[in-house]
Amino acid sequence: MEVVHISAECYPVAKAGGLGDVVGALPKYQNKAGIVAKVVMPMYRTPFLYSSSWVVDYKAKAFMGAWEFEYTIIKEANNKLGFDVYLVDIHGLLDRQKIYGYPDDTERFTAFQIAVVHWMSHWNHRPSVVHCHDYHAGLIPFMMQHCYDYQNLKEVPSVLTIHNAQYQGWMDWNKSTLIPRWDLSKKGLLDWGGSINPLAAAIKCARKVTTVSPSYMLELMHHANGLETLIASEKNKCVGILNGIDHEVWNPSTDNYLTEYFSVKTVTAGKQKNKQNICDQFGLDAAKPLFVFIGRLVGEKAADVLPGALHIAVQTYGAKASYVILGSGEPAVEAGLTNLALANNNCIKVSVGYNESLSHGLYAAADFLLMPSRVEPCGLNQLYAMRYGTVPMVRSTGGLQDTVIDMGDEGGYGIRFTHANETDIVQSIRRAVEVFENKKHLLWMRERMMQINHSWEQTVQSYTRVYDSI
Ligand code: ADP
Ligand code: GLC
Repeated sequence: MEVVHISAECYPVAKAGGLGDVVGALPKYQNKAGIVAKVVMPMYRTPFLYSSSWVVDYKAKAFMGAWEFEYTIIKEANNKLGFDVYLVDIHGLLDRQKIYGYPDDTERFTAFQIAVVHWMSHWNHRPSVVHCHDYHAGLIPFMMQHCYDYQNLKEVPSVLTIHNAQYQGWMDWNKSTLIPRWDLSKKGLLDWGGSINPLAAAIKCARKVTTVSPSYMLELMHHANGLETLIASEKNKCVGILNGIDHEVWNPSTDNYLTEYFSVKTVTAGKQKNKQNICDQFGLDAAKPLFVFIGRLVGEKAADVLPGALHIAVQTYGAKASYVILGSGEPAVEAGLTNLALANNNCIKVSVGYNESLSHGLYAAADFLLMPSRVEPCGLNQLYAMRYGTVPMVRSTGGLQDTVIDMGDEGGYGIRFTHANETDIVQSIRRAVEVFENKKHLLWMRERMMQINHSWEQTVQSYTRVYDSI
């Protein structure tokens, strides 16, 4: 079986969040399981591009509207990732520093998808499955089926994985000419609510739709940023499959970003050494419980509630605990957190930006990881935290609900709360501070969660069943 993953991100080539982690790991473990899985993604100017060797695989010209553009497909030469990764180079359009956030993102990702379909239609064989991730690859199932130039891909089955339905790639209908000549009678497949909606188009056209946790699948029928009725009507082809984590990358016994390796047997001393290092770096007291937040500072993650909640927590518990926040996002949230840290310099620290190495250090050093997310399709942070013996504090939603059992329930090892508000967060911090004092219970929870198996091996089987079904 040959599976072609199409994605905007893939770690370590380019990553902005969990999508990158998943697309960097799933194909690797699929290959180990005997599936020929490969990844096709845009060529951005990332450090991985410059530190790797590439060979040109294909070069051609295609049209986006009236604009004829040249694209080059390059392939990583040394199988560095454990699967073949192909980059689509479209000069001037994709080859930029950042993955997202440009005014012409619509044109960038549309051209990317046109190049991918154009290239695949010139292969001398057909792949078994085309697996599209999120809206950046959402037009592909439609294009394979309804663009006149790609009719030789019509019968190739496609799967859509929704990592996050908040982002749908809406395009004004006046951009419909960007899509290569298509069967106009199929207009309804592109449209949702009066605009071209690539995510909705993929939900309609893909043979199967997966979401990254079972709970998120159910949630989408009621909260899907406008797609609720569509998801509900297509529910028979939808399935929720929980993400795995790459145990080779996220392993405290071998993680080179850590100051001290540790395992279940050495978790107390190992975490303390890592904590000491982080606390020295930030000027914090390593004897106090350390709470961290790592992630995009956006409404979905309820990052806007953090400044208020931490302000109350500091007033309530004084200097009993320390907090480190790593992330970037909405300027108002960044400013709110930075000001809070300035006012409470002895116990709150904020690092604005993206820092892969610091993130690993924080998972290892922290006692608690805070994730009050309003929306969390799966969430990988809590899985990494648990693997590093850090107690997750999560709002009961999506994948957080599927992966964390509250410590008050039988066998529980985490802290769950209901609302993404100050009261619930402060209340959870109180519970955390209490359990921090109970070293025996804390150790039991750490040992328990470090041994939970969230490996990709089992998730790969679920995807194989989806492919087999189509
Ligand atoms: P999402 O994809 O919605 O942002 P996930 O929990 O699935 O959330 O994955 C987030 C991934 O991005 C994790 O690997 C996390 O460690 C990483 N991450 C998020 N923000 C940062 C940051 N500022 N610096 C380093 N890594 C980050
Ligand atoms: C998205 C979701 C996140 C999920 C990730 C990987 O970014 O927001 O919850 O873990 O995709 O599937």
